[in-house]
Amino acid sequence: MAHQSDLIAEDIHAYLKSQEEKSLLRFITCGSVDDGKSTLIGRLLYDSKLIFEDQLAAIEADSKKVGSQGGEIDLALLVDGLQAEREQGITIDVAYRFFSTDKRKFIVADTPGHDQYTRNMATGASTAELAIILVDACKGILTQTRRHSFIVSLLGIRHVILAVNKMDLVDWDADTFETIAGAYRGFAHDLGIDDITCIPVSALTGANVFGHSPDTPWYSGPTLLDVLETVDVSTDIAQRPLRMPVQWVNRPNLDFRGFSGTIASGTVRPGDRIKICPSERESTVTRIVTYDGDLESAFAGQSVTLVLADEVDVSRGDILAEAENAPDSTDQFAAHLLWMHDDALLPERQYLMKIGTKITTAQVTDLRYKIDVNTMEQVAGKTLELNEVAYCNFALDQPIAFDPYKDARETGGFVMIDRFTNGTVGAGMIDFGLRRATNLTWHDMEIGKELRAQQKGQKPCILWFTGLSGSGKSTTANQIEKKLASLGRHSYLLDGDNVRHGLNKDLGFTDADRVENIRRVAEVSRLFVDSGLIVLVSFISPFRDERRMARELMGEGEFIEVFVDTPLELCEQRDPKGLYKKARAGEIKNFTGIDSDYEPPENAEVVLKTADHSVNDLADQVVAYLRDGGYL
Ligand code: ADX
Repeated sequence: MAHQSDLIAEDIHAYLKSQEEKSLLRFITCGSVDDGKSTLIGRLLYDSKLIFEDQLAAIEADSKKVGSQGGEIDLALLVDGLQAEREQGITIDVAYRFFSTDKRKFIVADTPGHDQYTRNMATGASTAELAIILVDACKGILTQTRRHSFIVSLLGIRHVILAVNKMDLVDWDADTFETIAGAYRGFAHDLGIDDITCIPVSALTGANVFGHSPDTPWYSGPTLLDVLETVDVSTDIAQRPLRMPVQWVNRPNLDFRGFSGTIASGTVRPGDRIKICPSERESTVTRIVTYDGDLESAFAGQSVTLVLADEVDVSRGDILAEAENAPDSTDQFAAHLLWMHDDALLPERQYLMKIGTKITTAQVTDLRYKIDVNTMEQVAGKTLELNEVAYCNFALDQPIAFDPYKDARETGGFVMIDRFTNGTVGAGMIDFGLRRATNLTWHDMEIGKELRAQQKGQKPCILWFTGLSGSGKSTTANQIEKKLASLGRHSYLLDGDNVRHGLNKDLGFTDADRVENIRRVAEVSRLFVDSGLIVLVSFISPFRDERRMARELMGEGEFIEVFVDTPLELCEQRDPKGLYKKARAGEIKNFTGIDSDYEPPENAEVVLKTADHSVNDLADQVVAYLRDGGYL
């Protein structure tokens, strides 16, 4: 779709060229159905003459049937496209719509306003340069206005239009408008939004949307379209320092090696000195290669392949940057995080993090505070639920190059990804790097694992027992340890209940505490394996993620997962500590298998069926596994 212009008929080439050269503004509209958001977007599409005849006919017919304007044309129907949405009177998801005027092209992200859709709003806002925040003149600034503004500022949008809508319903009263505008300015300023334009509008009548309205003679500011067409969003990304995240290393043959990607910011020319981040090696650009031939220069938004003068190491995910103005590198940073998944964020759990073109493993090491999105108050919290925002410290498994998000969204924003489902679970904005880890160095000691293992005549490993409470983990592990001792082997048994008496006595049974419980015991068992021992870990360890984390801490073949597969009914029947009884009576909360999840292993190395075998047989089964695997 494009703006209908006489040029289309007269000179289609001239028309297409003019379209191509027009700048593009991406903006988001924030408000709820009741504020008239759909009507406003409908009005923009309608007045920019972007509705085709057949659409118009359909809307006219619908307006008579389901419209809210007493049979008059209902512009909201233009945007509330889905039948189901219309009937329920709500809009879901993010919809992107395109329109254009003579001066500019626009992409508007339309997201629902309720707080259960905060993640949708953040998605729409992440690429927007401007936000239109709608308030109903009859209601003034509401909690949701604050929430929308907070998300807008968090996602780095610097330009805001406060559209005070439904001015027709307050008799075009100047004082009403001024009061709302004044209150909003103060509040938005505190959020760090500096460019604010308040406009009295009526999406219904079109007042001050495309043209000035005779109903508001007291208003001499710009119309909505004036701002959309003229707002300067060029803080020119091409003038900023060069950043090009490497998408892939292009090496078709031995004579050519180039680094391909889309330039996120800045401009590059042959001869420019660049720094490869995070390795900080330097080189010079010799060629800018594209499908259509070499270029003299390339700038933000273009996809190119850069050839460098030196044989330097560059991999996917690195950033090629202006040598004199390169991004920082770190493996720990502080950032705002917006959680987007039904399963809460658990500190210390490992997730994947995608930042630019780089993917690494990352965890929240400290959830410093949550921010109530409605009041902006800082609140304490141990986990982060869907649509919540927090300020957190992160640790990554390798250094990354980054810019603070406020300076560069492209190299300062990241998404968090679940390691099992590969779904996006969170979005973050980096604040600054934490330097703690960079002041530590690893000492290589002369006595190592091999020597210690040799002295003990065994191959150290972890036997990781997982299963429900009362499944028989500790009993079986104990029996195995006895057999190992009688064989003259060296072992150590780490038992959940016992470790919780000391090292982990500060932890309870919430999901977050269990993650930390397993993280600590995994680290301790790694040390014990390093000391040459066969380590038996007997913890419920209910979550796949943490068992995988423990596995990945260890070398090949060092982690043996033993699933003590006892049905819940049998554990409950045995109930050795009387805990199931208490849990059923509601005296113990978060009890595994009752009101807290247990995720059984899918690929355990050993499965022990305690219902059908004696403890002694099961212990023999494990010892045989160790023998066959050359551990003993
Ligand atoms: S884990 O889930 O974090 O791995 P862990 O193995 O350390 O659990 O501790 C489990 C033991 O704590 C159980 O065997 C039981 O004796 C005791 N316990 C007390 N409360 C609970 C609970 N809510 N859920 C599970 N076990 C509990």
